[in-house]
Formats: sequence, structure tokens, C-alpha cells
Amino acid sequence: MSYKFMTAAEAAAMIKNGDVVGMSGFTPAGAPKEVTLALAAIAEKEHAEGREFKIGVYTGASTGASCDGALAKAKAMSFRTPYQSNKDLRAYLNDPEGVDYYDAHLSMLAQELRYGFLPKPTFAIIEACDLTENGEIVLTSGVGNTPTFARLADKIIIELNARHSKRLRGMHDIYEPLDPPARHEIPIYAPADRAGSEILKVDPKKIVAVVETNRKDEVGGFTAPDEITSRIGKNVSEFLTAEIKAGRIPSSFLPIQSGVGNIANAVMDELGNNPHIPTFKMYTEVIQDAVIDLMKKGRIDFASGCSMTVTDPVLQEVYDNMDFFHNKILLRPQEISNNPGLVRRMGLITINTALEADIYGNVNSTHVTGTKMMNGIGGSCDFTRNAYISIFTTPATAKDGMISSIVPMVSHLDQSEHSVKVLITEYGVADLRGKSPRQRAQLIIDNCVDPIYKPMLKEYLSIATKGQTPHNLAACFGMHRTFIETGDMRKTDFSKFISQN
Ligand code: COA
Repeated sequence: MSYKFMTAAEAAAMIKNGDVVGMSGFTPAGAPKEVTLALAAIAEKEHAEGREFKIGVYTGASTGASCDGALAKAKAMSFRTPYQSNKDLRAYLNDPEGVDYYDAHLSMLAQELRYGFLPKPTFAIIEACDLTENGEIVLTSGVGNTPTFARLADKIIIELNARHSKRLRGMHDIYEPLDPPARHEIPIYAPADRAGSEILKVDPKKIVAVVETNRKDEVGGFTAPDEITSRIGKNVSEFLTAEIKAGRIPSSFLPIQSGVGNIANAVMDELGNNPHIPTFKMYTEVIQDAVIDLMKKGRIDFASGCSMTVTDPVLQEVYDNMDFFHNKILLRPQEISNNPGLVRRMGLITINTALEADIYGNVNSTHVTGTKMMNGIGGSCDFTRNAYISIFTTPATAKDGMISSIVPMVSHLDQSEHSVKVLITEYGVADLRGKSPRQRAQLIIDNCVDPIYKPMLKEYLSIATKGQTPHNLAACFGMHRTFIETGDMRKTDFSKFISQN
């Protein structure tokens, strides 16, 4: 091949302070690993010698320790968007002196770049499992925003990763919509439909370096389902079964989208175990371990996603059994996997996770006590707002009961009461469809709140009586303020906040 093969350090040295880099992949799946480690080393050296070295970083979603983790530890980022979940980066972006983080809807970054709303990437670093002389790239386990980064960037660095099976060819569907006013409908009507190409085609002259590697994706393991997450999963699956019985979900079922994290993984497990739910398809963002397991059991027969965010043994299992998995999984750019129009067209049942919800059904998935960023909004809004039925799950409490996940008013808003149709905890289901705010508050307190916090939330309602959506603005954050002051929401005394006002 006529490309320039070089070390990661040589490739990274082409990227200069002030450059803007688009990283391939989605979650740690398919994210670069070698060049980013070398970039972090350059930044550390430059900083030690008193020179500035920072780059702007675009990704699909979160990445791994050798991308976000290394660059955050080296303080090598000037800005970062659209999503992350790395502990070092979390600390860096929550630091007022740290990196500017733009938390954004995952379906929208690619078009915002094309529209010119954000700076154009100068470099794209793309993980590939195969590459041809004429610029055909076979991506790996995650697609993310790679097609748009590759088209807009001046230069492309390829990480050619032998860890990934070359048989991934054919498991991608690369499609970039035209921009308005030339945009047309995206020709996908069912999860398995293809709209685009199995390879990403770039101008081979833009490929300035190829770095060979054999590093595995850095997907963290999931906490095994426990009593609480299993109960949440059971409540979700029983709710969906009742909806089928009532004729509100077709008996053939509808495609499922399931969010990220431990709870989502446990919910998928329970859906798969419920014999009253027919074999189903996923049209989702991340394909987690539980999905692969359910495919093997014949409970899921197709999954369209943006990435296989699975642990290394599970990914190897997929690669070792490509005859089985090859026609059951399709990986697409996030602009398509999370496309609001497609979500509404196909009638997805969406299941995402809240950090906290309020008694009226508003949801906060991102900010702990309204200020500290956890991960980001991800694709949760892309799906929720446009779902056939949007479900939010959360354990009723966090931190050994010292935090109630149900509060009078969310301390940050990601999903509004208008989009959240069903709220589910380990205690039960609040079906909010067609309910007024007062009815929603009653349902959520009766069905979803931990018994320890029920009297407290009922008391809140007794001091918030006026208006369409009753609130007492002096006391609505009383539970949060008590947690900040004492470390335990159970000590909340609303009268204290009212008298202070
Ligand atoms: N206040 C403070 N901390 C809270 C909390 C609250 N109300 N609720 C949960 N937490 C803490 C947990 O204690 C846990 O802390 P730890 O990491 O120190 O143990 C942490 O938040 C994660 O909670 P966990 O119960 O393990 O949930 P999870 O792994 O399922 O993640 C979200 C939950 C909300 C963080 C995760 O789903 C997320 O980032 N969502 C936003 C993006 C999204 O929805 N993407 C999918 C769209 S396709």
C-alpha cells in the first residue's frame, strides 16, 4: 500500500497546538487508542517545557482511557463535545479551570459541523480493521460521527487495528444525509433496512498516516444485575406485556431502544427472560453485552446500533462466530441510529435512565445536585421525545438511601414532563400518559417512591397547593439542600426552608 505507515508518536507529531480533532467510534468501541496516547505524551512534554498544547476534541460519544482518559490527565483539551463518561475527563470538565464541555444531542453534532456552527475538524483519527489503496475504510466496532469527521477534516490518520475482525465488512451502513434544503427522507423503514454503503470512502490523498495496532476496545464491565435492577427490569417487562394485552402495542411488538449503563443492561436481561414478550428487534444507540446474550438465546433477532459496546470477551465471541452474527447486527452513524424522524417512523419503545425525576415527570440524567456533570445527555432526548412509548427507569434511591431519586423539582432538566410517558422504579410503574400534573404527582409518589421518602414528598405536596403545577419555590430544593448540608436527604425539614425565605 502506498500510504505512509509510521509510529503513533510520528503520526501524533503532525497534530499541533490549536488543531481540532474528530475521533472515530462511539463509546470506547472503535475509538482511537494509539495516536491519542502519543498526543497526550506530547502535551505533557510541551507543558513541562512551558508551552501550551491543547486540541479541540470531537467524538461520537464517550471514548476509552487511552483517548479521553489520557488527554484529560495531560490537560490537553481546549474543548470537548458531545458526550463522555470517563472519570478523569469528568473531573477535568467539572473543574472551573478545566475544559469547556458542550453536552449535546448525539444525533445532531454531525449536522452542526456541516452547517458550520462549530469549528471544522482539521484532523480525523479513524480506527479501521481494513483499508484499500483507493481510500475505502472498513470501520470497527463503533461508527459515531466518523463519516462527517472524515469528509470535513483536512487530514486523516488511520489506526489499523488487527484486534478487530476484517469480517466486520458488511456490518456497517454508512449514510450521510444531504443538508437542507436538499435533504430527503432517510430510506429506512425497519431496523434491518440499509440506506448506505458498507465502507467509508475517503479521498486517499487525505490519509497522511497509517498506524498499526492490536489494542482492544476499552469497554468497562457491567455490574451484574442485583435485586433492585432486576426488579426494575421486571416492572418494565410486565408493563410492556400488559400493553400488548391491552392492544396498545402490536402483538408482533415494536423495536426497542435501550440506554447506557448497568440499569439498562439489567432491564434488557429481564425483557429477554419474559416469555410473554415476543422475539424482538433493537433500533438503538449502543448494543451492550445483554443484547448479544439475547441474540444467542434467540430472543433478539436483529440489532441496529451505532456501536457494539461490549466487553472484550463478548466482542471476541462475536468475531469468533461471524457466521451467526454477521447478518444480525448493523452499525450506523449516530445521525442515523438516533435519528428522531426514524424513531417516530418505526415507533420505538425507548428505555432510558434517570439520575433523578421529579413528582411531575421531569427527568435529570446528567447533573448531580444540579451542578456536577455525570456523563451527558447522550442520545436520550433523540429517542425520548420521538418514542412510541418513552420509559425512564431509576432506582428509587441512591447512595444507600441517602438520596431519593424522586424529588419535588429536578435540579437540572434534560427531559421534560411532556416527553416522559412512563416512570419505573423497583417499587412500580407510574403511567403518566394523559395525566395532569397533580395526577402525575400522586401516581409517582404512590407507585415509584421509596417508602422512607413517601411521607416527605406527600408533605411537600401539602405545602405546594396552588396552580396547574403546584410548587413551593422556597422548599422545592429542600431535599437537595439538606443532602448538600448533611449528606442525607432523609433529614429534610421543609419548614426550615420556608422560614428562611
Ligand atoms: N444523585 C447523585 N448520584 C446519583 C443519583 C442521584 N440522584 N442517582 C444515581 N447516582 C449515582 C449512583 O450512585 C452511581 O454512582 P457510583 O458510580 O459512584 O456508584 C452513578 O450515579 C451511576 O448510577 P447507576 O445506578 O450505576 O446507573 P447507570 O450506570 O445505569 O447510569 C446514568 C445512569 C443516568 C448516569 C446513565 O444512564 C447516563 O449517563 N445517562 C445519560 C445518557 C443516556 O441516557 N444515554 C442513553 C441514550 S441512548
